[in-house]
Amino acid sequence: MKVLVAQHPLITHKLTVLRNEETNSQVFRHLVEELVTLLSYEATREVKISPVDITTPVAPMKGAMLSTPRPVVVPILRAGLGMLEGMMRVLPSADVGFLGMVRDEKTLQASTYANRLPEDLSGRQCYVLDPMLATGGTLVAAMNYLIERGAEDITAICLLAAPEGIKTVERAFSNSSITIVTGALDEKLNEHGYIVPGLGDAGDRLYGVV
Ligand code: URA
Repeated sequence: MKVLVAQHPLITHKLTVLRNEETNSQVFRHLVEELVTLLSYEATREVKISPVDITTPVAPMKGAMLSTPRPVVVPILRAGLGMLEGMMRVLPSADVGFLGMVRDEKTLQASTYANRLPEDLSGRQCYVLDPMLATGGTLVAAMNYLIERGAEDITAICLLAAPEGIKTVERAFSNSSITIVTGALDEKLNEHGYIVPGLGDAGDRLYGVV
């Protein structure tokens, strides 16, 4: 498994505004989209392309375009939905699958409550969107779900990650072709399973408390 903490002053700047408790939902949503677009640059570094012949207004040339089958982007509901637009801006032809996962706030165990995914994911590069890699339970459950459907090449994009979450995913998938791309590796989890310093509840900050 590979872990990549994206280092870029724009990512640090945008994450700092995002983390600030005074940032309202409208600005928060906008920043999440921008951050995902920046992180996707690293996350898609190994996206598959195939050679194509084209002709420019000046001359014929050999180019390359995204291979088929296209990648699949999988936002984990609810908070991952806030990352979808930013990802689709760079991969507009990707398919989108949805995975609804909720974690029990007492046991911190993740369970699936909805899914809409292609039955067969073999040969598809999958990009999982989950803003907060906290305990790692949700991401491990989501990745297992994709692997059961044949996925072999999975990249998770997380705005923030906790060391505990990274360890959990590493333990579960030490030998698999899995990559985690994150904007920052924070200090720890608190006793409620929140990332410290983190940014609070990503879903609530995106969409309000419901
Ligand atoms: N989920 C969140 O939204 N925030 C955290 O800090 C941890 C999990």
